[in-house]
Amino acid sequence: MCGIIGRVGDGNAIETLLTGLENLEYRGYDSAGVAVQNGSGIAVQKRSGKVEELKETIADRSLDGAVGIGHTRWSTHGPPTDENAHPHTDGTQDVAVVHNGIIENYAELKARLAKRGYEFTSDTDTEVIPHLIQYYLDEGYENETAFRRAIDELEGSYAVTAMCSGEHVLYAARQGSPLVVGMEDGEYFLASDVPAFLEYTETVVYLEDGDVVIVDEEGVEFTDLEGNPIARESETVDWDPEQAGKGEFDHFMLKEIHEQPTALAQAIEGRIDPENGRIALSDFDPGTFEGIEAVQLVACGTSYHAALYGSLFLNQAGVRSTALLANEYSVAAPPIDENTLVIAVTQSGETADTLNALRRANREGANTVTVSNVVGSTAAREADDALFIRAGPEIGVAATKTFSSQAVMLTLLGDRIARDVRGESAADLESLLPELASIPDRVERVLETSTADRIAQRYEDSESYFFIGRGLGFPVALEGALKFKEITYEHAEGFASGELKHGPLALVTPKTPVFAIFTGDEDEKTLKNAEEAQTRGAPVVAVCPDDHRAADVADEHLWIPNTEPDLAGLLANVQLQLVSYHAADLLDRPIDKPRNLAKSVTVE
Ligand code: G6P
Repeated sequence: MCGIIGRVGDGNAIETLLTGLENLEYRGYDSAGVAVQNGSGIAVQKRSGKVEELKETIADRSLDGAVGIGHTRWSTHGPPTDENAHPHTDGTQDVAVVHNGIIENYAELKARLAKRGYEFTSDTDTEVIPHLIQYYLDEGYENETAFRRAIDELEGSYAVTAMCSGEHVLYAARQGSPLVVGMEDGEYFLASDVPAFLEYTETVVYLEDGDVVIVDEEGVEFTDLEGNPIARESETVDWDPEQAGKGEFDHFMLKEIHEQPTALAQAIEGRIDPENGRIALSDFDPGTFEGIEAVQLVACGTSYHAALYGSLFLNQAGVRSTALLANEYSVAAPPIDENTLVIAVTQSGETADTLNALRRANREGANTVTVSNVVGSTAAREADDALFIRAGPEIGVAATKTFSSQAVMLTLLGDRIARDVRGESAADLESLLPELASIPDRVERVLETSTADRIAQRYEDSESYFFIGRGLGFPVALEGALKFKEITYEHAEGFASGELKHGPLALVTPKTPVFAIFTGDEDEKTLKNAEEAQTRGAPVVAVCPDDHRAADVADEHLWIPNTEPDLAGLLANVQLQLVSYHAADLLDRPIDKPRNLAKSVTVE
């Protein structure tokens, strides 16, 4: 967890560092801090709270320096206090460090350093790093060697950036946590993610585990831990800064909901060929999945709901498939062998639970694929293959556009797998293809005509919110409820429609609206389940086409266009995203940064 940034260049780095931190706040916002070389040494400002609060603190004091580092924190070791905020320094303030990850051997290192007289002032694991560097400086090593020696002693995961007093140089290392270098003429950046510096440069180099880089005004030196030069290719990211900003919308979440037509169009671009009636997923050659006997999809949170969607699709296509919560995978996974395909579904590609599941699958000899939004992410590097959803950066903590894109990509991937496993005729996609091709337009129409704001208002004073769906509507019900609870802080639950009568019905009252998703698969049964709740007083909101019987029976109706059952749930999900958004807005919640949550959870 946490976001880090570093900058080397001319002029004052403060503005760049603070903007970068704001763009990284989706990685955590418990505290923020910066450190710069100010001519006479290292000056640090840090405090608990968001970057905005740090900005206010800094406005009162002059902080000036061309080289600096910054950090926005999601607490793992110690509460979100000023003392625990990064950057951390050694006792003499000769060294400042920002870190994302977890140092597993910090207790042992801390005890050793404390014994030698190094004084610790925080509860963090990170603080061992500046002290360790200082220790090697005290032993007579020069800065670079002291940094390398310190890094060599760390166990766990880290993206670390450090600076030593009196020189315009940054030292950085990556092991298990993301770190990317940005390069522009005479100005260089290090960050956890590209949006941190996207308004300054599009030229990036994704670092790999074991990389150590030295950045000064002359450029960036890429090395391994021992100092041997290594080759790293630069890439141009095609995200523009405006894309990474809020644009005309009040919240990133609303912007990202509205970006879905574009995101979906990008996802399917060049990957389907409706004219010739086929899916053209060039990412995988036909035959790639031959011999696969079982598919396991592993994921967390919203990605788990997309995984469940993909798994149900595969089962329908006759391929044995299970979706599993990644955090349960080490204790309760079905058997894995070389005929198993494990698909890690992860927007960020950095979720620790999902990476652990992926690593287990790799260790046990399974074939692995990740479905991710981040090229260069850890999951993309560690899986045998990667399929990118091309949704563009998602800043709102509550995932929206990435869910839709993941689900669609899993449908395309599912088709390839089914054909490889069961023969070319296995997946009957003839009717699905034109629907897939028009899904961006259909989502656009849902967005243009949605009455979700009125529905949110009507049921504002409810006590609980239930979401029900059947078949591919079930993961959408789970996702609808997750979105609702994440951003409104109200109680919401998703159920398989048929389960309502097996317990949850006891909770139903006039204060528990039931959102029922109709995909076209056994809708009569779902309607009956909704009516069972309605007769007990619960208002029912049907998410279905206008000419659907449920639209007449229900108390309220959210419209979706007629489409194939395999895709209807995705359209319903867009309506439910909007209901959650408007409900949270009415309650004045901090929609993009819900309390206690973070976008990318890099701890188990
Ligand atoms: C966190 C986020 C969720 C997200 C989950 C999985 O919990 O708050 O929105 O769905 O991580 O993230 P991933 O990047 O693996 O898709």
